[in-house]
Amino acid sequence: MNTHQILTDTPDFPEDKIKQLHEYIDSIEDREHLLIHILHKAQEIFGYLPPELQLHIARTLNIPASKVFGVVSFYSYFTQEKRGKHTISVCMGTACFVKGSAKMRDELGSMLQTDSHGTTKDGQFTVKEIRCIGACGLAPALMVDQKVYGHINHDNIQTILQLYKEDPHD
Ligand code: FES
Repeated sequence: MNTHQILTDTPDFPEDKIKQLHEYIDSIEDREHLLIHILHKAQEIFGYLPPELQLHIARTLNIPASKVFGVVSFYSYFTQEKRGKHTISVCMGTACFVKGSAKMRDELGSMLQTDSHGTTKDGQFTVKEIRCIGACGLAPALMVDQKVYGHINHDNIQTILQLYKEDPHD
């Protein structure tokens, strides 16, 4: 492996996580899809793929940064912005919008005091918009990670958030 790596131990990129990524890179046998495998793993470890991490991967693999950036931009699965532990996707499809999902999105934003990227200070939640999630009969609907919640209103939204604040899934 090329050792011209640019990441050093920082709160965003702790040494143990960088090491974990490199151990993974060294273990991959499928060289043909190397970059995709590494990007998946890097997002799993760090939660997102900021430019400095993309550059680090490019230098480690000795490939152009533009190639890494191209792959990250192409696949919507990859994100370059820091996300919270749980992603709340508020449906903005027509059925949900008509039933007030924009108001729910705004309410969530002010309840959780999210930043301009929709993420809370404690890194617990990211609120984002999504197009129809195929649950129009439950409008207005949202998803927390992969779980769908319907008929969202001012009261039950608090109950849902509470479930994830306590995090029974850990
Ligand atoms: S419009 Fe929201 S689930 Fe279809």
